[in-house]
Amino acid sequence: MNKLALVTGATSGIGRAFAERLAADGHDLIAVGRDRNRLEELAAAHPDVAVRTVVADLSTDDGVDAVAGICADEPLTMLVNNAGVAHYMPLAELPADKARELVHVKVVAPTLLTRAAVAGMQERGEGKIVNVAGMIAFSGPADKSVMPRRAVYAGSLAHLVAMSQTLSAELADTGVQVQALCPGVVATEFHSRQGIDMSVVPRMSADDVVTAGLRGLELGEVVCAPGVEDTGLLDAVFRADLAAFGGQSPELASRYRAG
Ligand SMILES: NC(=O)c1ccc[n+]([C@@H]2O[C@H](COP(=O)([O-])OP(=O)(O)OC[C@H]3O[C@@H](n4cnc5c(N)ncnc54)[C@H](OP(=O)(O)O)[C@@H]3O)[C@@H](O)[C@H]2O)c1
Repeated sequence: MNKLALVTGATSGIGRAFAERLAADGHDLIAVGRDRNRLEELAAAHPDVAVRTVVADLSTDDGVDAVAGICADEPLTMLVNNAGVAHYMPLAELPADKARELVHVKVVAPTLLTRAAVAGMQERGEGKIVNVAGMIAFSGPADKSVMPRRAVYAGSLAHLVAMSQTLSAELADTGVQVQALCPGVVATEFHSRQGIDMSVVPRMSADDVVTAGLRGLELGEVVCAPGVEDTGLLDAVFRADLAAFGGQSPELASRYRAG
């Protein structure tokens, strides 16, 4: 029986590249997106494997619940939580419906799809979950000159990184692997969908992001950063996180005491 991968946002960019690569590697696919024509075109391009297309809007509870049901029912060997939007904007100007959409697609959907998939993966003793986050997860301390306004988007990626790290520890020795995949800028429709022209900015290909994610799983990387040459930089971040976490105490820190 073929391995079975579910990819959200399989209609374009990184998700499409994952779907193509996994199909070429003999995976049957469950391809999720909103664009029915593109899903059908993907399926037609891969007659050698079974491709089930699922039209679902992951910004809605119904869409998330439908795909979570599939994650729970099907013997997935891989789940790629990839669908995403960014909506770069100063927070006060970000329409509430766009903030809600972003949190739903980038936080609620990956959380609930992962939750739905993980029990079966544990029972079968194997499975891989890739949560497509991004290097912006680590950009919180940057000052305002550095990047477009992105508080909700950055927060959503940080959620994916912390969830993947924590869940990976929870699932140690179960055969289930979890990865937060953290590309930098990638040549996809992501920016043009928001009217931002990134064509002159050097960008990684979606294909290279997929190569890194799959090789990162083989290397056992929980946080995979395709464009970071020096993994010591990430290790230093994680050591500092743990040092700060371990440095707390129930005593009020002296700088907060009056006088
Ligand atoms: N491009 C970058 O520079 C970059 C960098 C770091 C991280 N990322 C992450 O990479 C992931 C993939 O983005 P991409 O760069 O490949 O962009 P993309 O080409 O715009 O693809 C986004 C995908 O998400 C799907 N999607 C969006 N909203 C959805 C919804 N409500 N319900 C279901 N599917 C939805 C789209 O499918 P439909 O249109 O069919 O709905 C599309 O397949 C994102 O999560 C993003 O956060 C991107």
